[in-house]
Order: sequence, then structure tokens, then C-alpha cells
Amino acid sequence: MNSTETRQTFLDFFESKKHTLVPSAPMVIKGDPTLMFTNAGMNQFKDLFLGNAPIKFPRIADTQKCLRVSGKHNDLEEVGVDTYHHTMFEMLGNWSFGDYFKKEAIEWAWELLTGIYKIDKNRLYVTVFEGSKDDHLAFDQEAYDCWKKYISEDRIINGNKKDNFWEMGDTGPCGPCSEVHVDIRDDAERKKIDGKSLVNASHPQVIEIWNLVFMEFNRLADGSLKKLPAQHVDTGMGFERLCMVLQGKKSNYDTDVFTPFIDFISKTTNIAYKKSEQTDIAMRVISDHIRTISFAIADGQLPSNNGAGYVIRRILRRAVRYGYTFLNLQEPFLCRLVSILVNQLGGTFPELTSQNELIEKVILEEEKSFLRTLGNGIIRFEEYIKTLKGTKIISGHFAFELYDTFGFPIDLTQLLAREKNFSVDMESYQEQLELQKNRSRAAASVDTEDWINLETYSPSDFVGYEKLTAASKIIQYRKVKAKGKELFQIVLKETPFYAESGGQVGDTGFLISVDSEPKEEIKVLDTKKEHGVIIHITDKLPSNLYQSFSAVVDAKKRQLTANNHSATHLLHAALRKVLGTHVEQKGSLVSEEHLRFDFSHFSHLTAEQILEIEKIVNEKIRENILLEVKILPIEEAKKSGAMALFGEKYGDEVRVITFDKNYSIELCGGTHTDATGKIGLFLITSEAAIAAGIRRIEARTGEKAITYLYENFVHPVDKLKIILKKNSKDIVPSVENILKENMQLKKQVEHLYQEKATIIKANLPQKIKMINGINFIAEKIDLDSAEAIKDICFGLKSSLKNLFLVLIAEVNGKPTISILISENLIAEKNWNANTMIRELAKEINGGGGGQAFYATAGGTDLSGMASVLKKAENYLK
Ligand code: SER
Repeated sequence: MNSTETRQTFLDFFESKKHTLVPSAPMVIKGDPTLMFTNAGMNQFKDLFLGNAPIKFPRIADTQKCLRVSGKHNDLEEVGVDTYHHTMFEMLGNWSFGDYFKKEAIEWAWELLTGIYKIDKNRLYVTVFEGSKDDHLAFDQEAYDCWKKYISEDRIINGNKKDNFWEMGDTGPCGPCSEVHVDIRDDAERKKIDGKSLVNASHPQVIEIWNLVFMEFNRLADGSLKKLPAQHVDTGMGFERLCMVLQGKKSNYDTDVFTPFIDFISKTTNIAYKKSEQTDIAMRVISDHIRTISFAIADGQLPSNNGAGYVIRRILRRAVRYGYTFLNLQEPFLCRLVSILVNQLGGTFPELTSQNELIEKVILEEEKSFLRTLGNGIIRFEEYIKTLKGTKIISGHFAFELYDTFGFPIDLTQLLAREKNFSVDMESYQEQLELQKNRSRAAASVDTEDWINLETYSPSDFVGYEKLTAASKIIQYRKVKAKGKELFQIVLKETPFYAESGGQVGDTGFLISVDSEPKEEIKVLDTKKEHGVIIHITDKLPSNLYQSFSAVVDAKKRQLTANNHSATHLLHAALRKVLGTHVEQKGSLVSEEHLRFDFSHFSHLTAEQILEIEKIVNEKIRENILLEVKILPIEEAKKSGAMALFGEKYGDEVRVITFDKNYSIELCGGTHTDATGKIGLFLITSEAAIAAGIRRIEARTGEKAITYLYENFVHPVDKLKIILKKNSKDIVPSVENILKENMQLKKQVEHLYQEKATIIKANLPQKIKMINGINFIAEKIDLDSAEAIKDICFGLKSSLKNLFLVLIAEVNGKPTISILISENLIAEKNWNANTMIRELAKEINGGGGGQAFYATAGGTDLSGMASVLKKAENYLK
């Protein structure tokens, strides 16, 4: 069965068991500080497990793009080295939200694996949770009893908390689990060693393929477990491993999921796969990583220097390094694999197809720049080796510098070292690495206490689209300590505060006590969202937590922010009109001060295009278009032409924002102005590239745009009018004239200097002091042109032999020195103008340099000029 059929069979099976099929959530997660990437199929359902969101479909199945490269589940170092770990993988999953539980989950897993996929029962083992004293949990008898209906009891293995209690992270939904393992070894080997003893023993051919988690608890920050409101099922099956089993292969990389990449790499490099361990690993690393990188970019996560972008950059660089070191790939290569991936998975994940060009461009630029860094690192390595005298050991410090600054993994440094018969001091390298880890751990540490509930928890109502003030009470709060600062997070029953999302900043404002006198005011510094919960951030708690509050949003800030958000929509539509419909939003930031909009486009915008865009947006502002807000089923919204973002998770019902149905329709949860006229004015303040194929526009609106215009255009022009004594109309021609005149004058002055220089040059030979057979000239000359002084030096060099010439002059009000030495003196006396000038420059408080025969220096102390000449004469004594 090929991989496409395998995936489809899974989905069809669960559809037949009344599961609703849903698309994969984006791989890059937004709005969850505990997780950067989707690392399990259940992530997108976390709110359902916790009871923070209503359950629409009690049964769901899908294939989910997952990434395990950071946090609790991190497989990165194994990837490529073994044959069954991946950075990005597909997880096939079925879920029950408070519906069926262990019995059906186990029955259907068995039916699918053995009845439909026809995996030999004698190759299967299952595990059940043995219980945990720490967590006061008993042996999972229920799961055991369900399994024994299908599989003999000697194939049911008890597993400990590490293997059989699944947790999403340090905190969050969790529960006991049952895993299905399959033994794909040859019969001969199976006879020799019992497969049962190899379960969970890291054997590459006795592997876990499916994990059935019975979600019942929430792990709190204090380590304790709290029962969830209902019992759920979360299963995850490793798609690539399943393909390996069904295709009768011994390695995931031998299935049709990976062979297209391996074949291409092998053909291009002329290196056969399965020829040597090292080149095999490199091929596997590349075939694996290209998927992660491409999917991340398609989901809107570009490689960058921090956060999730940095993780992606590191993965990309790992692939480049393996190719560079072991496959001799010294030119960009990964970008050439993108089309293979798009062919293979573009049908299942359409975001790959529509973002194909962008993915290729971004990868190409990243590769080029990293290959340059690698090249520089190698030069640095060569230089370092030259400085080592009497030792063949490369210090851990230097190996760490290569790692930290040039992205060299230690194995690359060791390889380079071996080639030159050196070795690396690994102990001190590890020390440096540990020190850095501690530094970043300390910098990133955020101490979050558990929630303290004042009322029974219920999701808070957001009323901020309709009103800016609401009567409310505190449901729960907690203390957070970050970078030594103590803050509080407060959840309200009803809130008008908009939480930062979709690029729009969070609201600020006040919680004002209703009953107490005098009124107590707690400042809300920011509003954020975590797993759908709106969190108000304050730096203190009210004295009485149980009282009623009036939650009041800063209305001015909200209106300015809304203006900028609406202007962003108008801009987006204008960009697509002027540049084309390939323009897609790649990021945005909307605050009360300004707006920032990142979008895909492959060249810089011309001045005319920028003007045209501004013109369209300002026209739409003057039309004073009324805001239209609709809540629609997603399909209907898309049909109406609404623009959706890649990598964004949308519900079944979406909020649609329209400003003129023929102009701008977008899916958006942000707050908007009720009529575009309120935006007042739209002005683009900058346009630039931020990554390959991605441009950024910054703009201001209303009062901020007017202030910007005044500060940058009106006031400077007013000043110019006074200086030039001209009216606005005549300023530009007047400045042009001045510049033209200035050019002409410069030319004339230069000409006069040249004439003056000719006279000085003719007179200088008369100043020769013959000392020990050397023609020594040390003079102060009156010439305000560095160019002309250089001409004098070079002129005298060719007309005088045995010359040691030192000239000082004041150029642009600063002391300068020039030294010229005849070539024969350089050899005979071992003189060097470059060294001498540094010494002489000290007298004028300056510095400089040049070559052995000619050097110049500039300084700041005019009073030192005379001593320069005296000091120069010392060289002759
Ligand atoms: N959450 C479980 C896992 O990731 C099952 O989906 O293994």
C-alpha cells in the first residue's frame, strides 16, 4: 500500500465510525507561550480537553503536521542518525471529546491495524500503564481488560510513567496511555530474541506505531494532577512508521515518503545511498529537514534569529552542514528539493502548492548566506591553526566560538581538525556549552504560579466589539515572575479588553472598583490570550478580589489602533490591486502608533507604486465606507472572496470584515473603525525587504501621519524657505542651482590646488637636507587638499632618489601627515612608512596607515605638527 492510500484508508476508516474529518492545524503555533510548534495531533484540541471551548464535534480524525525539535518532545539529534525519528512527521489521529473512551478506542485500533491494514497479529505488542505512586494512580485495569479480548495476555506489557503516561508538556492535559508496538524483524532474528524483550528498548525494528491516550487529567504548575471535566481519547499514529510497516521496509527512509528525495540527492551528488554510514546519514538528514523547513515557511514561519524562526534556521543549517561536510554540496541545494515535496504532498497540504515559489526563494537565500558563513568559519579556522605553536590541540573556547558565531557543529570542527592532525579539547568545549545553556536558561526563565480560582471557572465573555466598559468580577488570577519583575494575570467574567492577537496589540485600561470608596483603580498594562483565555496583566492585585469592577478600556488607544487595523485591510487590498494577487499577508503589527505589514512580493516597490497605493487607500478613507461585520460558516466566507491567512487556525464559523464588498473582505478577529473616514489620512513611511521574497511596509494614519508629515516635510521645508529666502515653489530649483554651483566651485578649487601643488612640488627639492646620504625632506606645507598632497608625494618619488619625505598640512581644519620612502631605502634600512606613521601620528593625537612606501595619517591636535617633523628626523640618526 503506498503512502497516499495508507493515509486515505485511515481517514476513511474513522469517517465510517462517525468521526468528522478536519484539516491539519498549522505546524507553527501562535498564542501559546508553552509551545512553539505543534508536537502532537492533540495540540489544536487542548482547549477542548481543558473545557475552555465548546465541543462541536464529539469525534474527530485527521492527519496532523507535527514538529518535535524543541521543548519536552525533542528528537532533533536522533534525526538522520537512526532510521525512524523525524523532525516533521504526520500524525494520524482520532479523538473523542467526552464521547467514547477506552473500549472503542482499543477495539477500533485493533480492527484497523489487523483487519484493514492486515498487520500480522503475531508481530504486535501492546503496553498498558502500570500506575504511579508519585501521582497516586493505579494500574490501568480497564485498558488491560479491553486489550485481552484481542491479544494474548503475554503480549500485553506493563509500562511505567515515562512510557505510559502521556503529557503534552510540563503542564497541561495528560493521562495514561496504551501503545501499540510492531516487530518487523526477519523470522530468523525473531526466533533468536523474543520481540517482547525489545519493546521500548530503542530497537529500530521493534517500534511503537500508535499511542492511545486516555486523557483524564490536567498537570498543574505545582506538579499535581487535576481531573478534567470529562474523559477523552487522543490517539496518534506515526504515519511514516506505519508506511514502513505496510511497505515491508526496515527504514522509514526506504518508503515512498522519502525515496524521491534520497534518489534525487544520490543522483545529483553521484553518491549511492547505503554506501557509507556518513553519507547515508547526511542524505537522511536532508530528506527529513527539507519537509520541516518547507512546511514551516508555508505556515508563515520564516527562518530568523529568535524564537520559532531560529529553530527553523537551525534545522536548515543542520541540513546544509551535513550536505557541505559529507556530500560535498557547496552550492545551494535544498531549494531544489522543494518541487519534489510539492509534487508529493501538495494535494494533501495545499499550502505547499500555493507557497511553492516563496518557499524556494527563502530557502535559496538562507542557503547562500549560510554557505558564506561556513566559508568564513573555515578561513577563521585556518588562521587560528596558524597561531598554534607547539600544540596540536584546539581549545574548547575556540571550538565554541566556531559553533556560536559560525554555526559549526562540533563534529565539523573535529573533522577539520583531524584533516590537519589536530584534536579538539572536548572537555572544555562541553564546559563552554554548558555555561551558555545556563545563561540562556536564566534569561528565559519565567516563573508562573498556578491559577487561584475565585469562582467556578467558565470561559470569559468578550464584549469588546460592542462596548468599551463592562461590569465584571475576577474569576481567577495568578502570579508571574519574569526577569525579576512580578506581575499578575487576571481573568474576568466578562471583559471588553481585546487580547493581543492577529498582529493587533492588546488593550490597556483600568479595573475600577464599583462599591468601595475611595474607588480603587488597578491599571491593566496589557491583555493577552492563552489557549483562548483572555488574560489582563496588572502589576498589583485589588485589595478585595471578590468585589465588582468596572472594566474600562482606554478608548483613545483603542480607536487609534482600530484605525490602523482597518487601514491595514485597505492597504492589503490596494497592494493586491497595484502589485498583483500574488501578494499575501505574511505578518502584521497594529498599534496605536503605527502599522506594519509584511507581504510576499519579489521586488522593491517603485516610488510610483507607493504613491499609487497611498492614493487608493486615501480615496477609500475619503469614501467613508461603513464597516460591515458578519459571522459566517468558513466555506461561505471563502466563497464570498474573503482573504484568509496561511498558517492561521480558523474555526468553522469566522468573523468577516468588509469595507466595500468589491474592495476588501478579510477573515479577521480584530477591532475596526466603524467608518473609514475616521482613519483621516494614510501615509507610508518606509518600504523594505525583510527576507527573500518578503517586503515590509510601515505606515501611519490620522494625527500620527500628520505629525510625521510636519516633522519630516513641512517644517524642514519652512526652514529651507527662510534660509534660502524663497517661496515653496522655488525651493527645489533653488537647491538644485546651489548644488550645481557648488560642483563647479569645487572643480575650480581643485584646479587651483593642483596649480599650487605644482609650485610647492617645484620648491620642495630646495628643502632637502642630506643626512647620511639620504635626501630628507620634512616640511609643513600650506595645501588644503589630500588629493593634491598625494600627487606631490608621488611626483617627488619618481624625480628624487634616496628620498625620505615627511609632509604635514592642515586639511579641512585637521592636521595630516604623509610619508613617502624610496623603495631602495625600504630594503636597505628595513623602513616601513606604515609603522612610522603610526608612531608620528601620536603627536597629533591621531592614527593612520598605508603601505611600506607610502602612508598617511589624520589627527585632531594641530599644536603637535611641529614635533612630528622633529620626531621624523630621529629616524636618520
Ligand atoms: N498525544 C499522543 C502522542 O502524541 C497521542 O496522540 O503520542
